[in-house]
Amino acid sequence: MSDLFSKFDPIIELRETLLESGQTDPFNLVMERVESPTVAICNGKRTILLGTYNYMGMTFDPDVVAAGKQALDDYGSGTTGSRVLNGTYAGHKACEEALKDFYGMDHAMVFSTGYQANLGIISTIAGKDDYIILDIDSHASIYDGCALGNAQIVPFRHNDIEALDKRLKRLPPEAGKLVVLEGVYSMLGDIAPLKEMVAVSKGAGAMVLVDEAHSMGFIGEHGRGVAEAQGVLDDVDFVIGTFSKSVGTVGGFCVSNHPKFEILRLVCRPYVFTASLPPSVVATAATSIRKLMDSADKRAHLWENSKRLHAGLRQLGFTLGTDEPQSAIIAVIMPDLEKGAAMWEALLNEGLYVNLARPPATPAGMTLLRCSLCALHSEEQVGEILGMFAAAGRATGCIS
Ligand SMILES: Cc1ncc(COP(=O)(O)O)c(C=O)c1O
Repeated sequence: MSDLFSKFDPIIELRETLLESGQTDPFNLVMERVESPTVAICNGKRTILLGTYNYMGMTFDPDVVAAGKQALDDYGSGTTGSRVLNGTYAGHKACEEALKDFYGMDHAMVFSTGYQANLGIISTIAGKDDYIILDIDSHASIYDGCALGNAQIVPFRHNDIEALDKRLKRLPPEAGKLVVLEGVYSMLGDIAPLKEMVAVSKGAGAMVLVDEAHSMGFIGEHGRGVAEAQGVLDDVDFVIGTFSKSVGTVGGFCVSNHPKFEILRLVCRPYVFTASLPPSVVATAATSIRKLMDSADKRAHLWENSKRLHAGLRQLGFTLGTDEPQSAIIAVIMPDLEKGAAMWEALLNEGLYVNLARPPATPAGMTLLRCSLCALHSEEQVGEILGMFAAAGRATGCIS
C-alpha cells in the first residue's frame, strides 16, 4: 500500500526542523481569553492583537453582541438546514437587506463563509466555454472557485493593467469573460488600480468581480471598498465580501445589480448544499453592517493608525510591503522563514501578536509578518507596538 500522506513529507520535515530548534509553533497559538478587539491573553500574558483583520473593532460592540444574544433566545442556536430548504429565517433576509442598503445594490446573497462565496459565485457564473482572467496573486478561495468550475483560467501579472489588457485582447471576442480582482491584496496590503482595470475589462466586454474582503467597512467614503474609493462601483458586476473581517463575525456575501442574479440561489452549489449561518451570526452581521454605514470617524482613525505604524516601522529600518500605507494591512518583509519565525516569537514574548505568513499564501516566496490594524487601537497602543518591534527587531538581528 502506498501511503497517501507521503506527499506531505517535505512540509512535515520543514515543520519538525523549525520546532526542534526550540521555536514556538507560530501556527498553533491559543487565545486563552479575548478582552477586546485589540487585547487578548496568550500564554498567560496580556497581548496586543495586530493580526486579526478586525479592522473596525465590531466584535465587542454592545449593539452587535446584544443582537446576537437576542437571536439566540428567539431562534435557537442553528438552522440545521440549507438556505433553499429550512435554513432561511427572517434574520437571513434582514442581513441581505442590510447589505443591499450598505452597497446601494439590488441583490445580496449571504453565504456561510467568504471562501464559499468566491467558490460558489466564480464556479457557477463562469461555465465550460467561458474564461476567467485573474490576478496571479489572487486569494486561495478565488483559485479554488476556478478549480471547482469548468472555465478556462487566464492569470495575469499582479496589478499589471497592460498585462490584463493583453490577455483580454487575445481571447475570442464573443466568448464569455469574467475578470476577477481584489480591492486590497491581503499579503502585502496593496490596492488594485481598479479604475483602469475595470475600464479595460469593460472595453473587452468582460464582466467584473471584485473581492473587497479587506476593504469593506474601511476604504471608500461609505466603506464600500476600493471600487467606491476609485469611483467604479457602478461598473462592477459582482462584489464579494466577508463578515470575518470588518463586520466582526463569520459569513460571506455577493452583492450585484444583475437582473437575473436571484437565479443563483438555485444553481450555486456552495450556497445550496450546505447549512445556513446560525441566527445569532446573521443578527450580529446585520447590526454591524448597519453601524458600519455610519462610521466615518472610525475610518479616519484607522487611516491615522495605518499611517503611524507604517512610518514608525520604516523609521526603525524594517522593509515593508508598500512604499506608502494603502490599507489597514502593513506587511513587514522578513529575509527567510527562520528569521521570520524568530521575530514572530520575539514579538509574542514582548506581548504582540501578528500573523506569520509564508508560501504558498505569500507571493514570490516571501516570509511576511503581517500587521492588520484596528480602528480601536489607540494612539498609545500604536506607540507600544512600535516599541515592541524595536526591541524584538534588535534582539533577533532584523534591525540594527
Ligand atoms: C481576499 C479574501 N477573500 C475571501 C476570503 C475568505 O473569507 P472568509 O474568512 O469569510 O472565508 C479571505 C479570507 O482571508 C480573503 O482574504
